[in-house]
Amino acid sequence: MPAHAPSPARITDTDLAFQRCINPSCAATLPVDRAVFSCPDCGDLLDVVYDWDRLPVPSRLADFEAKWSRRLDPLCFSGVWRFYDLLPFAPKDRIVTIGEGQTLLRPSDLAARYVGVDDGNLLLQYEGMNPSGSFKDNGMTAAFSHARMVGARRVACASTGNTSASLAVFCSATDFGFKAIIFIGSGKIAYGKLSQALDHGALTIQIVGDFDDALMRVREVSDRLGIYLMNSVNPFRLEGQKSIMFRVLEAMAWEVPDWIVVPGGNLGNSSAFGKAFQELKYLGLIDRIPRLAVINAAGAQTLDQLVGTHRMAWNSGLPDESISKAYYDRLDLEHIRASTIASAIEINRPVNLKKCLRALDVCDGVVRQVSDQEIMDAKARVGAGGLGCEPASAASVAGAKRLREEGIIAPGDRVVCILTGHQLKDPNATVAYHSSDREEFDRVLGSRGVKRAGFANRPVVVPNELDAIIRTIGLYSDPSA
Ligand code: F0G
Repeated sequence: MPAHAPSPARITDTDLAFQRCINPSCAATLPVDRAVFSCPDCGDLLDVVYDWDRLPVPSRLADFEAKWSRRLDPLCFSGVWRFYDLLPFAPKDRIVTIGEGQTLLRPSDLAARYVGVDDGNLLLQYEGMNPSGSFKDNGMTAAFSHARMVGARRVACASTGNTSASLAVFCSATDFGFKAIIFIGSGKIAYGKLSQALDHGALTIQIVGDFDDALMRVREVSDRLGIYLMNSVNPFRLEGQKSIMFRVLEAMAWEVPDWIVVPGGNLGNSSAFGKAFQELKYLGLIDRIPRLAVINAAGAQTLDQLVGTHRMAWNSGLPDESISKAYYDRLDLEHIRASTIASAIEINRPVNLKKCLRALDVCDGVVRQVSDQEIMDAKARVGAGGLGCEPASAASVAGAKRLREEGIIAPGDRVVCILTGHQLKDPNATVAYHSSDREEFDRVLGSRGVKRAGFANRPVVVPNELDAIIRTIGLYSDPSA
């Protein structure tokens, strides 16, 4: 046991929710009112676990819809806490909500044709509609509720941008005295996200290094100073992120899709989704689990390498960790750093690796990597189809296309791609793709190996003269088309 870790308190017979180490040969338990974020016995990841047999869970998922009629109650208004009964770790009077989770599931036939599935079968779960513009708010509301339960004041995270933006919003939008401290790597964060952290008043600590370095540091610092850690190694955050799947099912009238496709970075979402479906199945609320596809960017492809090439698997909770260790040793030896235009998922050491392996096991999952070229092309198609997203989010659509081309996804499959973050998070990448200025394109995208902008919508340069403008409009836009 590490010197700083207090010994675990006893779980009592009355605890309806508790924490448990995911390693079955350890399985240490902790009460929910502890904030340690790794097993005090063996250092592994912790889960939030419920005694479902003694909890009041509705017998049908459709019962959750009744909450819509009580939208003036913040716990019914929130798209996370509407499903309180499926994540009941916090007393209701401790919950911290800013109205997160008012998101949309929408079909996009433009994206369907791009991916190669039938019209109506490609659905985009648009998490960019959250208050801070990304899916992170689903997890933050849960982690902040836990932080309030344990009386925390200072809260910290390392971030590629969205976690820090969400953390900063929750601190500034609530009145519980939370102070935001965020760690970011140098030059590694898209301006839309950095601007949020600064605007919302977070103490922003920029270190020389990347996300993997920043995460290591924030874990050390939080441990040393007793600061509450808000990264997805925090199991309470993942409880909130389960609700993304609840809302997907709700929007599909409680039908289970064939595929959930999600970008993979630190692997919190994929882990949370697997847990959500495992629990729904256990509770008899669904009869079938969708398949899960986790998509890495090619410049940050740890999961794809470990699962696809080195055959690392959940193995009933005892994955062969010599495989990941050897992989990380090689990254160190060869000084390999994550590098992708999808800066949100520019991560080489995903903390939730083991939980993601479990999710892949539960959901008969697959992993793929897609290039920055595929990501930017998919992003342009998503944008043209109506709901814009940031590069990392488009990895899901690029990954679905890849899986369709391989015949793993069938044209008649119903596929839900998670659009994790809003288009305006990273306007530089979007403008560079559509730009007619080759220098701009090369500076932002060429350096990432993006060679073409096949779906660019280039601005048209026209002299400031009425006739020229009218002629151009005639050339480019045919009202009868
Ligand atoms: N998409 C976006 C837009 C993200 O911001 C992130 C993660 C992911 C996907 C990956 O999700 O970690 O659950 O696999 N962003 C973190 C951050 C790392 O710091 O904002 P994951």
